[in-house]
Amino acid sequence: MKKSISTFLKHPTKDNTNRSANPPVTRASTILFNSMQELAQHEKRIKLNKKISYYSYGRYGSTTTIELENILKELEQAYHVFLTGTGFGGVALAIMSVCRPGDEILVSDNVYGPTREISEDLVKEFSIKAIFYDPDNFNDLRDKISKKTKMILVENPGSNTFEFQDLSKIIKLAKRKKILTFLDNTWGTPLYLKPLKLGFDMSFTSATKYFSGHSDAMGGSLAVNKNVFKKVMFFYKLSGYRMSADEAYLIIRGLRTLDVRLKKHYENTKIVINFLKKQNKIKEILYPYKPNSKRYKLWKKYYSGANGLFSIVIKSKNKSSVIKFVNSLRLFGIGYSWGGFESLVLLQNLRNETKYTKKRLYFRFNKDEHIVRLHIGLEDPKDLIDDLKKSLSYIR
Ligand SMILES: Cc1ncc(COP(=O)(O)O)c(C=O)c1O
Repeated sequence: MKKSISTFLKHPTKDNTNRSANPPVTRASTILFNSMQELAQHEKRIKLNKKISYYSYGRYGSTTTIELENILKELEQAYHVFLTGTGFGGVALAIMSVCRPGDEILVSDNVYGPTREISEDLVKEFSIKAIFYDPDNFNDLRDKISKKTKMILVENPGSNTFEFQDLSKIIKLAKRKKILTFLDNTWGTPLYLKPLKLGFDMSFTSATKYFSGHSDAMGGSLAVNKNVFKKVMFFYKLSGYRMSADEAYLIIRGLRTLDVRLKKHYENTKIVINFLKKQNKIKEILYPYKPNSKRYKLWKKYYSGANGLFSIVIKSKNKSSVIKFVNSLRLFGIGYSWGGFESLVLLQNLRNETKYTKKRLYFRFNKDEHIVRLHIGLEDPKDLIDDLKKSLSYIR
């Protein structure tokens, strides 16, 4: 029977031994075998990416992480899924698995800050060069391809400014030039966009965000096609990447309600945006909500849904009043991560280079414009609007 993804997410991982509706948390370093022959056979199956229910050593995972891998394999329609202890680990795993000294990576200018740091600072130490392209200009990407380009690293939509790119154009170009492709799909999740089906070699999601959904777990998922499987497996095994069984359990629990939560985040967001778009202190809302906009059209072309994360551009010559707006919100916590049940807010700094953030090359905004990122949670949107209304009055 062909099941819908919503049904599928409610049913996997039943524990037939213990008769529980959820899988056990298997904390294991040592895995026991009946004979050396059985051990050898099992390791061969792992190498060939055959279906298994346990690994040969706890470093590679346990029955609980395999349950999660299997759910994500189905969701991503992937050849294999590698789990990491944080999302960021998954980004590093992808780059370090396929790039070697002398290679170049083309990186979308709007990637998550630390992804920019890996691309700019870390890989330089290994003689790999990152070149940033303008996410709003496909020709810029095309013109920057050289004989050394190994990989195109895309984040869609981009962090904080939420530009959407024409993904199949990128794939077509990359395939023609034999360049590997990576997509950070944390915003859309594989529920709303399946990057591997579209032709990407690697599809990454920070499981810390909507997968877990409760702001209490961290993890990363790197789904790959057959083309890069061996290379990623080599680096994964030898660099000690892993997700703990406890974390995997929490992420499995989160995934059961991913569809329901995302729908509600989107519903609440539409209600809040309807209020925000009428506020004269807000110059722009960086979210696919205006049917004639480029952002909306590209979102509609590739995604089957949206969520609660977007930014607003506030126009004010008085930055401290914008900070006061952020600080005075009572239902929006000030915090970095997102994708949990709760509403969040953060004033972003894209203009200057700081100890923590690199400067964007292609995003232009005026001195009196400030980007505030909001995450609309699962609260009653009427309460969120009341909170925003009160705090917006502080902006001068
Ligand atoms: C788009 C995006 N990619 C990757 C990451 C990294 O994930 P993690 O925080 O799980 O390391 C984040 C975290 O905020 C993110 O927003």
